[in-house]
Amino acid sequence: MVHRSGGTRDASAPPDAPDRHSPPRSFVEQANVTDDSIYETFDEEWPDCWRRAASLLSWDRPYETVLEDDDAPFYRWFTGGTLNASYNCLDRHLEAGRKNHAAIRWEGKHGETKTYTYRDLYVRVNELAAALRGLGVEGDDVVTIYLPMIPELPIAMLACARIGAPHSVVFAGLSADALATRMDAAESEYLITCDGYYRRGNAFNQKSKVDNALLSLEQDVTTAVVDRLGDDLPHVLAETEFDYDELVGEYRGETVEPVSRDAEDMLFLMYTSGTTGRPKGVVHTTGGYLAYVAWTTRTVFDVEPADTYWCAADIGWITGHSYIVYGPLALGTTTVMYEGTPDYPDRDRLWEIVDRNAVDVFYTAPTAVRAFMKWGKEYPEKHDLSSLRLLGSVGEPINPKAWEWYHEHIGGGECPIVDTWWQTETGGVTVSTLPGIGDMKPGAAGPPLPGIVTRVVDADGNEVDPGESGYLTLTRPWPGMARTLYDGGDRFLDEYWRRFSDPDAGEWVYESGDAARVDEDGYVTLLGRVDDVINVSGHRLSTMEIESAVAAVTGVAEAAVVGRSSGPGGTEVYAYVSTERDADPEAEIRAAIEANIEESIGRLARPESIVFTPELPKTRSGKIMRRLLEDVSNDEELGDTSALRNPEIVGEIQEAIRDEETGDR
Ligand code: WT7
Repeated sequence: MVHRSGGTRDASAPPDAPDRHSPPRSFVEQANVTDDSIYETFDEEWPDCWRRAASLLSWDRPYETVLEDDDAPFYRWFTGGTLNASYNCLDRHLEAGRKNHAAIRWEGKHGETKTYTYRDLYVRVNELAAALRGLGVEGDDVVTIYLPMIPELPIAMLACARIGAPHSVVFAGLSADALATRMDAAESEYLITCDGYYRRGNAFNQKSKVDNALLSLEQDVTTAVVDRLGDDLPHVLAETEFDYDELVGEYRGETVEPVSRDAEDMLFLMYTSGTTGRPKGVVHTTGGYLAYVAWTTRTVFDVEPADTYWCAADIGWITGHSYIVYGPLALGTTTVMYEGTPDYPDRDRLWEIVDRNAVDVFYTAPTAVRAFMKWGKEYPEKHDLSSLRLLGSVGEPINPKAWEWYHEHIGGGECPIVDTWWQTETGGVTVSTLPGIGDMKPGAAGPPLPGIVTRVVDADGNEVDPGESGYLTLTRPWPGMARTLYDGGDRFLDEYWRRFSDPDAGEWVYESGDAARVDEDGYVTLLGRVDDVINVSGHRLSTMEIESAVAAVTGVAEAAVVGRSSGPGGTEVYAYVSTERDADPEAEIRAAIEANIEESIGRLARPESIVFTPELPKTRSGKIMRRLLEDVSNDEELGDTSALRNPEIVGEIQEAIRDEETGDR
């Protein structure tokens, strides 16, 4: 099978029989789940098995049906039930006598810390919920949240949940254009943002991005602005803009009755890159999503309320929604939230935080692990990491070498590692070993979770043999799955269901967009994306979206963007550009391209390389051969080039890459 992935090629895949590791006895003895009959039970009792997930929540009205599938693939879970997500993450823990238990331990960029007990968080969330109501927010109004990793971010999410207003969090590092596109698509009239934030010690202006975004929107927007920078960045507020503290100050001590939501009511929207430039608004619901993230936090991350749990992701992505905010708080545990980067002020920053907070469970991305590895073991060695009992990995495949390093130098050789495969659309983890049960095979994520069925298929949808690669699909619905796209059910069907399903036979197959293979034990190894989506440092980007940002620059005649594998598991962006005849000098165009990408998508999409070439390789019918560029970028043997109209260009491009890499330009 040919898979068009920039990311993770077979080179990064583990050998066929990687070293297995069994979970250590010390872990198994205390684990939440240790009996492997759970797989069989879930199979036999499906879909009723998911009652166990629902039972982790407090329902206002019990649900009547576990799964309704008459309108498949628009599945409905726990129908008839009502509940409130903020009640489940806050009030019920107070009622259980845990009001002074730490809910969030916030670690600021400059070493400042704040602890919010469940009661503190309850008070903050209620005040903001009252304030949002005061601004006119009603149930089902989409509230956009554009905040960095400061406590107001989860507070805002829970305040929205409390009043039944879906939130749409936009990662703070995305551009003004990206914010505008998302607010426009969701017709969102409320925004919670901040003046700016610190990035590597410098004050960075967020508010000016917001001002630019709002200029291009048709709707009127009411904005609350958190003052993060104080005098470091004075700002002026317009008439429809409110200072967050002043606003909330008017509602001091007020409480808001949590609104009972239908299990299938939308809890939030999360935009993610698709194959076209238009981001997809993935819709998650209140009952199924919350039940699923609570259940996976308990079973996959082995979390107990007494734990201190740290998912070192950004809440601006699904990972943070599910495993910094909703999962851990639903279970009543302590969740760590870190504002900064791993290497500021020094490269031991994360380990200092683990040590000081006695973190039990730590979850990060392979790209971070590879950076730790490069920096060296002396940084973790400076600290006592013995509180850790479980490690997690997410976002891309973790290559065996990084796995072993993580296991040895962070986990002290004693922590199991859960390599969790999932997506914005799956809501929570769907493939991973259970840490108290399964052997780990570095490089392979593991078997599907109990109740989940994966199938790797060929282009015709037929299951391939173990060891062969194909398209990763999920053949059974699960409570945390996306219900639809905010842009419409048709796009939902097109993007995920049409390709491999057989509606006449009532067979619905979810297409993940990833390539994978399965071994004899049913362990899934991920091989990267099959579409035009690439995964850069754990963030999903669309090559088409970057391409249009490049092509929009004056002087650029044509552009193609592909992913280049940057060592095991990592991907970087390569842009190929041909310029117009009397264009500006290359250096100027290069700068303009970088600026435009930063402006229209965000810094994270900036290319590692911009390669200038007189022409792009094209087929006789004039299509740019991106697959060839991908092979060239990855120093791979070139596939079939007989369809090329201009084969001579390949050599020139290879030379241009060499120049670009040696800085000889
Ligand atoms: C894509 C989803 C879900 C949180 C992170 C990003 C890749 C995710 C793994 C893993 C190999 C992984 C896939 C997937 N991915 N986890 N453990 N091993 N690849 O969420 O932005 O929706 O991206 O991330 O390619 O499709 P996302």
